[in-house]
Amino acid sequence: MQGDDLAGGKARAVREMFGSIAPRYDFLNHFLSANIDRRWRHVCANEVRDRLGDAQPRILDVGCGTGDLALEFSRVGPVTGCDFCYPMLEIGRRKVRDASGNAVHLLAADGLVLPFRNATFDVVVSAFVLRNLSDLAKGLGEMRRVLRPKGVLAALEFAIPRIRFFGALYRFYFFRILPLLGNAVSGVAGAYKYLPESVLAFPAPDELKEIIAGTGFTTVKCKPLSAGIAVLYLAQ
Ligand SMILES: C[S@@+](CC[C@H](N)C(=O)[O-])C[C@H]1O[C@@H](n2cnc3c(N)ncnc32)[C@H](O)[C@@H]1O
Repeated sequence: MQGDDLAGGKARAVREMFGSIAPRYDFLNHFLSANIDRRWRHVCANEVRDRLGDAQPRILDVGCGTGDLALEFSRVGPVTGCDFCYPMLEIGRRKVRDASGNAVHLLAADGLVLPFRNATFDVVVSAFVLRNLSDLAKGLGEMRRVLRPKGVLAALEFAIPRIRFFGALYRFYFFRILPLLGNAVSGVAGAYKYLPESVLAFPAPDELKEIIAGTGFTTVKCKPLSAGIAVLYLAQ
């Protein structure tokens, strides 16, 4: 298969997979992480708010899914969220309707071809999306293009913790237990096998930092969260 076909195949498979688990996605996120995922999104929004001071920045959430990160960022400023999976967006739109805070607007768009002019946003955020992109460099390039100069990029992604004893325990949970629970609750065979496999296949934090810097971002920092289960990448 050619590169474009492979990328298109991955994008389609990712969109279909999230479409099939969308109704159980929020429940499984919170259940499988013992609610720690809420804290990660909260930390992400706080870090960005602390960097920006009191300004009301224009925020873009790429791969917003069911809207949890966009809603978290609505404390900071008006948010536009985009995702290419309609069933995820529909759930997000319902949640946004009932929410308070700054305006949140969710729309259907591909993160690899963002429908925004250059330098439209002060902040671009993303949670657990990077490893799902069929072309990481293109996705990061689009994030940079729509970000104004000196704007802030904040991206959350999973990692494999390196701490010896905790790391071993976590790997047992992540590779053995989580896929069984995820498949049983979502009713979708294989969906939660993809999660640990995609994390394992994705660049480790130091390498991802280099990739982000190579796309034209400066001052790239990574902050491990919960002993390195997740990592917050911050760049300008
Ligand atoms: C693991 S979910 C994360 C959703 C949300 N950010 C969260 O924190 O729960 C990954 C999301 O990225 C979306 N996604 C993956 N590739 C995408 C692309 N090229 N364009 C837009 N959305 C994409 C998927 O449809 C899915 O909703």
